[in-house]
Formats: sequence, C-alpha cells, structure tokens
Amino acid sequence: MEKKTLLVAFGGASPEHEVSVITAHQAIAALEETGQFQIKPLYITKSGRWLTGSELLNLKNFEDLKKLESELTPCHFAQNEFGLSVLREEKAGFFSKAAETSVYAVLLGFHGSKGENGAFQGVCEMYNLPYTCCGVLGSAVGMDKVTAKSICRSNKIPVTEDVNFVEEDWVGNREKIIGRVNELGYPLIVKPVNLGSSIGVKIVKNRDEMSEAVETAFRYDRHILVEKVISPLMEINCSVLGSGKDLRTSVCERPLGKEELLSFQDKYLSDDAAKGMASADRVIPADIPEEFSAEIREISKKIFRILSCSGVARLDFLINAKTHEFYFNEINTIPGSFSFYLWKESGLEFDDLLLELIELAVQEHQKKSRRIQSYETNLLSKKAVKGIKGLKGTK
Ligand SMILES: Nc1ncnc2c1ncn2[C@@H]1O[C@H](COP(=O)(O)OP(=O)(O)O)[C@@H](O)[C@H]1O
Ligand SMILES: [Mg+2]
Repeated sequence: MEKKTLLVAFGGASPEHEVSVITAHQAIAALEETGQFQIKPLYITKSGRWLTGSELLNLKNFEDLKKLESELTPCHFAQNEFGLSVLREEKAGFFSKAAETSVYAVLLGFHGSKGENGAFQGVCEMYNLPYTCCGVLGSAVGMDKVTAKSICRSNKIPVTEDVNFVEEDWVGNREKIIGRVNELGYPLIVKPVNLGSSIGVKIVKNRDEMSEAVETAFRYDRHILVEKVISPLMEINCSVLGSGKDLRTSVCERPLGKEELLSFQDKYLSDDAAKGMASADRVIPADIPEEFSAEIREISKKIFRILSCSGVARLDFLINAKTHEFYFNEINTIPGSFSFYLWKESGLEFDDLLLELIELAVQEHQKKSRRIQSYETNLLSKKAVKGIKGLKGTK
C-alpha cells in the first residue's frame, strides 16, 4: 500500500525562521524512523516563496539559502479536477504536466508571524486540509500577548500589570503614554505584542530608557506591551497536549538564563544551535515542590482551553521566587522543538508525540467536516430571486 503523504511546512517570513527549520528537521528525523508517512517538505522562504524539493531534507543545505532556493521547485495548494486539495508543483517544462500530491495532513513547524498566528492555518482551512496544533482562533490569540492576557484576566488567571499601545497612539501622545507607564513603577519590561524568542524585549530601569526601548520594539511590531517586572524571577514552563476536555500535561521545566531575561542567545545559541529549543539550559523536571508543579499543570490545562487551543502548546509562567506568586506569561502554540524534551521526560517519545499530533489534526478536521457548512437550496434559483427586491429584472 502506498504511504500517505505528510506535508511538513516550515520557514516563513519570521525572525524565528532558522528556529523553525530546526524544529521541522527534528520532526522529520523522528517521523522518518516510524516509516509511517511519505514526507514532503514545504518550505516558505524569508521573502515568502513556497518551495519544495528533496534538498530540503538535508539540514546542511540550509547553510547557503540562496543556493538552496535556486535548486527547489515553486509550489502551491490547489484543487484537482475532483475537487481534492493537492500540493501542486510548478511545471518543469512547457509540455510537462505539473506534479500534484494529495496531502493527508500538514504538520506545521513554523515559529512566529504568519505561520503561527493563524494566517497559514486559515489557508489550510480554505483548502480543507487537516493541520496540526491550534486552529485559526487559538493561533491568533496565542500570538497576541495582549489578547491572551486579557482572556486570562477575565477568567481570573493572574497576569502581570501592564499598559499597551499602538504606534499611532505613541506618535501623538508620547508624554501621556509615558505618564501611564510610569504609574506602573520601574523596573518595567517592554515587548512587541506579536513576537517571540525575546526579540525586541528589553528591561527598562528608569524613565530615561523608556523611549528608546519603545522605539526599538516598534521596529518589530506596531503594538507594544509594557509590563511590571517580576523580581526575583523564576520561570516555569509546562506543555499541554490534546483537544477539548481530553488534555494531558507534561512535567514542568525551569529554564535557566545567563542574562536578566531569557535572551535569544540563551534559548538557541548557548550550546548546540542545531538542537534548537532542546539545547537551552534548563532543569527538568523543575525543582519546585510537587504541589506547586501540580497547580501549574492544572492551570495550564485551563488556560489551554480558554484560549481555544489544541494539539501541543507550551505555557510559560513568571514566578516571584520569594513569594511564589505566579503569573501566566505567554502560550506558544507551536512550541520550539514541539516541546519533545518535556514529553520525553513525561514518558512520551518524540515519534509518538508527533503521531498523536497528526491523529489529532485529522480528528479535528473530521469534527469540523461533520457540521453543516452550506444549504442545498439555491437562493439564486429563478424562483427565489423573484422574491429579492432591488435586483435588476425583479420587482
Ligand atoms: N514581566 C516580566 N518580568 C520579568 N521578566 C520578564 C517579564 N516578562 C518577560 N520576562 C523575561 O523576558 C523573556 C521574554 O519575554 P516573553 O514575554 O516570554 O517574550 P517572547 O515571546 O519573546 O518569549 C522571558 O522569558 C523572561 O525571561
Ligand atoms: Mg517567551
């Protein structure tokens, strides 16, 4: 029997492009071991081109992105003559027919921007293709730190005090905004609302440093969040897997940073770049009391549900190391390395985690497909149109 094709989509116009390449390659390696699928890579370049080709399966080829791009074949989603969605590769020559592959499911390995914020998920929805992790809503909410915090706040989940504003507000009302920000009390932390990997994030110790930090963050996003700094800080993360009420949590981890906040350097460049998130320094399971870890795991499940998530996500918490008060910080709806290192410690191997994600994607897709999506009656049939006022040829 021919194997089903699993499309592994990664890359994209995101500052976390390289991290995504690593996550996708880790997944491809684990899935190849299972022998269950024909794996087809779909790579989106930093400038947004969709490309495919076996060259993408060798990580070494990513050392020279220009050369790699020139060797790949442009592709896109399309519908074949039977109405089935396929990945269509552009014609090689004038007479040759474009190669088409029908897709069983899409494993999303993007980090940041349009691959993780619901945009790519929306494209899959339009083509009726099953895809892993959160749907459009959960992905969009998870990417937007202000919206995620606001939903948590209204569900009585502790989050840090903050002020947020968009560029248009800042341009005309800088002094007023700084006034509101000052009321929070220094030190403060400035963040782009829709980014990850600590890019554009800066701790500000006094009023004089504020404008510069805000201007830097505006280079990455038009929406800025300024939060009270939690100090002394301990970070605890936990991963959730499943959908609906059927959720499991991984053991917690305590990531360790060398700087005052966990930097891009800490996360990806400290040890072995090719290991991505799996190489960062951390304590697993987190060295915190059992009851505390149980509390974090329970609240993680609750947050995962209220933020409309499915698949696998990593939830990050900020803890005041002295008082043990905790605050939900953010959710990563396509976590670095799919958080496999947390699940491994929880008794689930990476290949089984991926197979479960693919199964969940197919199940979610089936659940949606079972609903009524359109009516058979044609409102524009001759008889019906007569009843619509204001149209040409009707009364
Ligand atoms: N309110 C805060 N107080 C203290 N440190 C923080 C706070 N918010 C974030 N940090 C630090 O900054 C890092 C990056 O911030 P985060 O909100 O997680 O953004 P990103 O999406 O870029 O990972 C965190 O991992 C943590 O080390
Ligand atoms: Mg973070």
